[in-house]
Amino acid sequence: MNVVNLIKKKKYGGELNYQEIEYLISGYTNGEIPDYQFSAFLMAVNFTGMTESETYYLTEIMIQSGKVVDLSHINAPKIDKHSTGGVGDKISLLLAPLVAAFGIAVPMISGRGLGYTGGTLDKLESIPGFKVNYSTEQFVNFIESSGLCMIGQTDELAPADRKIYALRDVTGTVDCRPLIVASILSKKISEGTDAIVFDVKLGSGANLPDTEASKDLAKQLITVAGKMGKKSIAVLSDMNCPLGYKIGNWLEVEECLEIMGGKKVDDVVEVNNVLAGAMFKLAGKVNSIEEGKKISEDAIVSDEMKAKFKTMVRQQGGDMSYVNDWKNLKRSEKFYEIKADSPGYLSRMDAQKFGLASVELGAGRKKVTDKIDHLAGIELLKKPGDKVQPDDIICRLFAQSQERIEQAVKFLDDAIQITPEKPLERKLIIDIFE
Ligand code: URA
Repeated sequence: MNVVNLIKKKKYGGELNYQEIEYLISGYTNGEIPDYQFSAFLMAVNFTGMTESETYYLTEIMIQSGKVVDLSHINAPKIDKHSTGGVGDKISLLLAPLVAAFGIAVPMISGRGLGYTGGTLDKLESIPGFKVNYSTEQFVNFIESSGLCMIGQTDELAPADRKIYALRDVTGTVDCRPLIVASILSKKISEGTDAIVFDVKLGSGANLPDTEASKDLAKQLITVAGKMGKKSIAVLSDMNCPLGYKIGNWLEVEECLEIMGGKKVDDVVEVNNVLAGAMFKLAGKVNSIEEGKKISEDAIVSDEMKAKFKTMVRQQGGDMSYVNDWKNLKRSEKFYEIKADSPGYLSRMDAQKFGLASVELGAGRKKVTDKIDHLAGIELLKKPGDKVQPDDIICRLFAQSQERIEQAVKFLDDAIQITPEKPLERKLIIDIFE
């Protein structure tokens, strides 16, 4: 087979067969196909899409690039959640310990930041010492002993996604449905979960800002998961405004610690509780998502959940002083405040622009080799619906240099809107597909 011919076949809308996709994926994963050719292939897929069979083959081949973990000896339902990516989306950090505290095992292979959306692995690594790269054996040991473990793709588990994910991040090929489906499912099937909850984000800060495309993504995820023998539920949630009050890796861990400590962060908690409800339902612990949601409402500040979170941090090598003593407010050195210029109500905070600004600040990557600044990010002091007076601080930007702050501020120029009327309340959960 010839790589250039396969790129051209896809470029002109041709349908690739199993062997052709296998040739491309294994060639790229083992280093025989260079980044520049694989980037061209990704862009061709981005423009011409993939048929249902191609998407299924791609998923299957990306799973086969590594092993599939066997967790059948663990006597607990194994359920995981995966988000299609959002801004300020820190929910995995709360949700996994919450459901694990109820006896659900959560074997979670997550991703890094993708485009302007954050990644669970980068967030976890902002806790000094926290490791996300373990052997499969150790991954299983952790799930056996504590009921949860969060790692990244490894040489053994979803290695194709590890390489392709990083390349997509920096080649403008994140917003492509078949690539998202195969990326998410190759991780979820490899980790050995029984069932999956998808948090499909809708709106400007989603990886697919087009709502119809996101709804179709939800359907594709459920269909392909079903073909692979996995039950799933997709919760479609709003991502037009950043989730919570903090964007950036350490800032988001900090916000989770605050929430576990009792701080009311309504949007994060609402989405978390619905996702937990869906996980409880898939685990057979409740009959409806609503019933599961109620359990989660009480559990989010429970000692059991905090204990699970701390167990996970300890088992994965994280510095416990950051988790126990988070109020010492670790931040990047430089900061800048954006203030209201007129009275009224804050009516819009464009999640995508906040995400792009956070990448400029150093919380995300523009090149594969970029190092994340774990302390960079944005703290929101107001959210849509809040009344503001001139000079009220709306948000605070943190970075290591003035130059980064200046670049980031440009993205926020028209990201914030103040209007005389109070905006309508945002509907967070838009739909649920079961
Ligand atoms: N999450 C993933 O794991 N992959 C994607 O492509 C998007 C979100």
